[in-house]
Amino acid sequence: MGGAFEPKRDPAPIGVSRTDSIRPFSLNLTFYYNRLSVWLLVSFFALSLLSMRDTMLVTGGAGFIGSNFILQRSEADSCTLVNLDKLTYAGNLCNLESIAGYSRYEFVRGDIGDHLLVRQLLEKHQPAAIIHFAAESHVDRSIRGPADFITTNIDGTFALLEETRTFWTSLPEPDKTRFRFLHVSTDEVYGSLGPDGPPFTENTPYAPNSPYAASKASSDHLVRAYYHTYGMPTLTTNCSNNYGRFQFPEKLIPLMILNAREGKQLPVYGDGRNVRDWLYVEDHCAAIATVLRHGRPGETYNIGGWNEKPNIEIVETICDLVDEMGPRRAGSRRELITFVRDRPGHDRRYAMDARKIERELGWRPKETFETGIRKTVRWYLEHEDWVRDVTSGSYRQWIATHYSV
Ligand code: NAD
Ligand code: TYD
Repeated sequence: MGGAFEPKRDPAPIGVSRTDSIRPFSLNLTFYYNRLSVWLLVSFFALSLLSMRDTMLVTGGAGFIGSNFILQRSEADSCTLVNLDKLTYAGNLCNLESIAGYSRYEFVRGDIGDHLLVRQLLEKHQPAAIIHFAAESHVDRSIRGPADFITTNIDGTFALLEETRTFWTSLPEPDKTRFRFLHVSTDEVYGSLGPDGPPFTENTPYAPNSPYAASKASSDHLVRAYYHTYGMPTLTTNCSNNYGRFQFPEKLIPLMILNAREGKQLPVYGDGRNVRDWLYVEDHCAAIATVLRHGRPGETYNIGGWNEKPNIEIVETICDLVDEMGPRRAGSRRELITFVRDRPGHDRRYAMDARKIERELGWRPKETFETGIRKTVRWYLEHEDWVRDVTSGSYRQWIATHYSV
C-alpha cells in the first residue's frame, strides 16, 4: 500500500495538526477503498469548513493523556480548547501551566456528571467537537473500590452523552454534520489473551475482567448506542497502555522509575510475565487527532504501539536506565525487584491489532519503545518538583485552598 499513498497537507480544522500526516487514497484501489476514498473526500471538505474560531471541549484534560493532548493540540491547532476536569487525585493543573494564560485555552473545574454545568458549557462555547478522556483509570483502585468507576465512567459518560445529544440536535447545518464526539477507551474491554492468541481487532467481542474494564466497556456501548439510535456522530478509540510524562505514579512505569530512583522495592505482581502493549503518549494523542479529523462516525479504531512486552522486561529496562541516568547507587537496581502477590483477576496478555487505523487513516506510532522509555525516565528524573507535588499531598492542599467555594 505504501507507495500508492502521498502525504497530504492538513488545513487544520478541529483539533488537527498541520503536521499530522494522512495518507489519502489511491485511484487504483479496490471498490472498498474507493468507497473509503469518497468518505475521506467528503469529510475532508466538510471539515475544511471549520474555522479558527472552533472550540474543542476536552474532558479530563488535567489527567495524564488529556494534558498531553491539550499541550500537543495547543501547539498544532488554531482552535480554542476548553478543559472540563473535576481534578480528582489524578488531575493536575501543573501539567498545563505553560498554557494557563493563553487566550485560546480555558479551564473549568467540574464533573462530567453535572448536567447543568455541561449544558451551560455547551451553550456557551458551542464546541465543534468533544474529546472525552475523563475517567477513573486505575485497575487496582477499581478492585479496591469500584463505585467511583461506575459513577464517573458509566453515569458520567451517560450524562455527557445526554447533554451532548440535546446540544447536537439543536445545531443548524453544517455544524450538525461536522460535530464529533470522540470517546477515548481502552484495550482492556476485550479481556485477556493467551500467549498465542491473535491481537484484538475492532471485531473482538468484549470480555472485560476488572471493574475498570467493565465500566469502560459499558461507556463504549453507550457511545455506540448514541450513534446507532440518534445518529450522533460519535467515534471511539481503544488504546493500549500509555507511558510518558505526567502519568500519575500509581501506574507501573512511573511507579517503578520513582521507586528505583529512591532505592525502594519494585513490586512486580505475580510472576511478572503478564504482557502489555506499550504506546508513547504523544503517539496516542496524535492518533486521537487523526481519528477526530478523518475517522468515520460510528466507527471504532484500535490504537497500539506494536510493542508487546512482559512486565518484568519493562521493570528491568527501567532499572538499567535509572542506573545509567539517576543518582549513583552501589549495585544494580534490578536487585530491588520484588515479586508480590498477584492482582486479583490479573489479565495475562493484551495485544492490539492497529492495522485499521493505519490502513484507513494513515496513522502509525512514531516513537520506538527504546526512545520513548528513555525520554520518560529522563523526564521523571528531571521533574522532582512535579513528583513532589503529586505525591506529597501539597498539590491537593493547593487545590482545596485555591478552588474552595
Ligand atoms: P488519568 O486518571 O490520568 O486522568 C483522568 C482525568 O479525568 C483526571 O484529570 C481527573 O481529574 C479527570 N476526571 C475524573 N473523573 C472526572 C469527572 N467525573 N468529571 C470530570 N473529570 C474527571 O487517566 P488517563 O490515563 O489520562 O486516561 C484518560 C482516558 O484514556 C481514560 O478514559 C482512560 O480510560 C483512557 N485510556 C488510558 C490508557 C492509559 O494507559 N493510561 C490507555 C487507554 C485508554
Ligand atoms: P498498570 O500500569 O496498572 O496498567 P493496567 O493494569 O491498566 O495494564 O499495570 C501494568 C501492568 O503492570 C499490569 O500487568 C500490572 C502490573 N503492575 C505490577 O506488576 N506492579 C505494580 O506495582 C503495578 C502498578 C502494576
